[in-house]
Amino acid sequence: MTAKILSGREISASILAEVKADVRRIIAESGAAPGLAVLRVGDDPASAVYVAKKVQACNEVGIRSQHIHLPETITEDELINGLMSLNEDPKIDGILVQLPLPAHLDVQAITESICVKKDVDGFHPTNVGRLSQGRECLKPCTPAGIIEILKRSAVEIEGRNTVIVGRSNIVGKPLAAMMINENSTVTVCHSRTRNLAEITRSADILVAAIGRAGYLRAEHIRPGAAVIDVGINRVSDPDFAAELFGGEELDKRLSTIKQRGATIVGDVNPKEALERAGFYTPVPGGVGLLTVAMLLKNTVTAARMQRQKTDAVRLSSPSRSKNVSQKS
Ligand code: GUN
Repeated sequence: MTAKILSGREISASILAEVKADVRRIIAESGAAPGLAVLRVGDDPASAVYVAKKVQACNEVGIRSQHIHLPETITEDELINGLMSLNEDPKIDGILVQLPLPAHLDVQAITESICVKKDVDGFHPTNVGRLSQGRECLKPCTPAGIIEILKRSAVEIEGRNTVIVGRSNIVGKPLAAMMINENSTVTVCHSRTRNLAEITRSADILVAAIGRAGYLRAEHIRPGAAVIDVGINRVSDPDFAAELFGGEELDKRLSTIKQRGATIVGDVNPKEALERAGFYTPVPGGVGLLTVAMLLKNTVTAARMQRQKTDAVRLSSPSRSKNVSQKS
């Protein structure tokens, strides 16, 4: 079996085209483009790359972005005061603080100081709670992107077994809530899970979000499963690259290692996944692109909330909630 590649490029391109049309409509109706503030603290090189991609994508769809680069030494109070000003700023519809933050800053305090209706990351406890209750809310971008990949590729979710490897607040936990809301049967595995392969082999949809290069292998994959790889890991060892890739792809990867010192790989062994899975999201070119697309989609949703002078509380009143009839 050779897995069908689920291209993040194609799916994100169609989402970005929809977002671009929404942005035009918002400008025509309200006279102002949606505005997104992206805050980056310190000089983490990976964060610099991710933020640059987010800002560039905003430019491509007509969202006004403000990249606020703050020094590593900023205090928690200074950062929270800055966020309070953005909460009040009518030109800003969405606020994102790029993670990870320097160790002296309390992520939870910072997340909670962002206005719920501008929380385009969906990390505020109110949005997390609403998601867990199956109510309307701003949803974390990476898991929301995974749902889009599955739906737009006609991979059935309802009634099927999803196994998520990884229990982070950014991916594993919110994805579990979203997949339950989509009526999937969900198992979450993590570093203390026993008999991992036995559990992952029960997955119709297997999601790897653990941050370990090529960790999931053929033995973890049920033949024909949809394998979604969320990992972004740097590999600089040519011998390890040869375990993950073959043929022309290996040649490309080895030349990237030579030129740039490392190549980016996911949490799943791609060679083995391609042989065994039914569907597979490549790294790069898979889930990562969707994270950016869903951020822009959330910014449009937040802009609509701001312009309707309403907030997520009203949008999520029980009479409008999609999942209120869900019983068990
Ligand atoms: N760092 C890694 N992923 C994310 C994300 O989705 N949002 C933010 N703010 N930081 C991240």
